Amino acid sequence: MVNIKLMFIKFVVFRGGYCSGIILGNKRRAFLVTRCGKKVQIYYYFPTCIAQNRFFFSISIFFVLCYCRPMRLYYLCMRLSNQYMDNRSLISISDLSKEEILSLLRRAGEFEKNPNQRILAGKVVASLFFEPSTRTRLSFETAVNRLGGRVIGFSDPKSSSQAKGESLKDTIMMVSNYADLIVMRHYLEGAARYASELTPVPIINAGDGSNQHPTQTMLDLYTIYQTQGTLDGLTITMVGDLKYGRTVHSLLEAMHHFSPRFKFVACNELRMPEQYKEYCRQWGIDYEETTEFSEGIINQTDILYMTRVQRERFSDLMEYERVKNIYTLTASMLTGCKPNMRVLHPLPRVTEIAQDVDDTPQAYYFQQAKNGLYARQALICRALDL
Ligand code: CP
Repeated sequence: MVNIKLMFIKFVVFRGGYCSGIILGNKRRAFLVTRCGKKVQIYYYFPTCIAQNRFFFSISIFFVLCYCRPMRLYYLCMRLSNQYMDNRSLISISDLSKEEILSLLRRAGEFEKNPNQRILAGKVVASLFFEPSTRTRLSFETAVNRLGGRVIGFSDPKSSSQAKGESLKDTIMMVSNYADLIVMRHYLEGAARYASELTPVPIINAGDGSNQHPTQTMLDLYTIYQTQGTLDGLTITMVGDLKYGRTVHSLLEAMHHFSPRFKFVACNELRMPEQYKEYCRQWGIDYEETTEFSEGIINQTDILYMTRVQRERFSDLMEYERVKNIYTLTASMLTGCKPNMRVLHPLPRVTEIAQDVDDTPQAYYFQQAKNGLYARQALICRALDL
């Protein structure tokens, strides 16, 4: 019993990855295999847990285990560990409970009514973008400015000491000396999680490789609610690059709270990864996959979520050339759609939405991007406990 308790303290604390083996006893080190498959040696936090009197908590987790399937347990542990470790970082959308998501959406609604407030006076937010961005970076920086805070950082890592060979760890340690909050986009999956384990300064993941984009998901949820009047029971069709598109991965996880039906439209090369389909099965979410982007599918849809083929994620550019123009939504394809149907896209778009769609009542992607300001204001306040 004692050994099992130790195991679950370890499992809970090691959020962000699966343990590569079970270490029983009071060892000081362990290996962690992160969700992107990287194996790293990390310190074992057991003594900290005992010092902080988490015995009752770990026993509770043990009993929860008895009734949960493994994937559900994993996500539950991630959420609980985030809550109990008093970490205000947002790395994955699964760090947030349904109640927190709904509360953040309400807060975003308040910011939409009044975006100019002085809540962040005296606070410094670091904006570290190791990958290009227009919307995410500018809406975060606008959010801070409109709330009376200050922004430091870089939009091009070539202008930082990374260009001289500085490691991500050292960059994060340095920036932690200056800022109250770090907003970070990085090209490597798991980078934001790694950063959050280095520093007590909260980290907001502004996109890590093809893994997660939780702040995009918050603005997507806000927009879905705004256009549909509900988040429950919707049919969401995701089209395009479902393999590398981090926005669809985060949105899929967030929607599990709201009994969605998914339709995944992608060519074989860019299908939704197995882990997300497994996630749907674990949560009893109905989904279907197809390679055909037809009006029949569009006409059953409440939210049509288009995505760009992510050129920057392909190791084989010939393959990108083969699939880059595979689906294009045109205005004529929308003639039989449901009256409530709206087209969303995280943007930027390339060829997947024709310009003539912009003039239809279904086009909602520019308003969606505007909602990023309010959603990110709410997320910044959460991270800083304001
Ligand atoms: N949706 C999104 O992340 O856009 P940017 O890459 O411009 O930030």
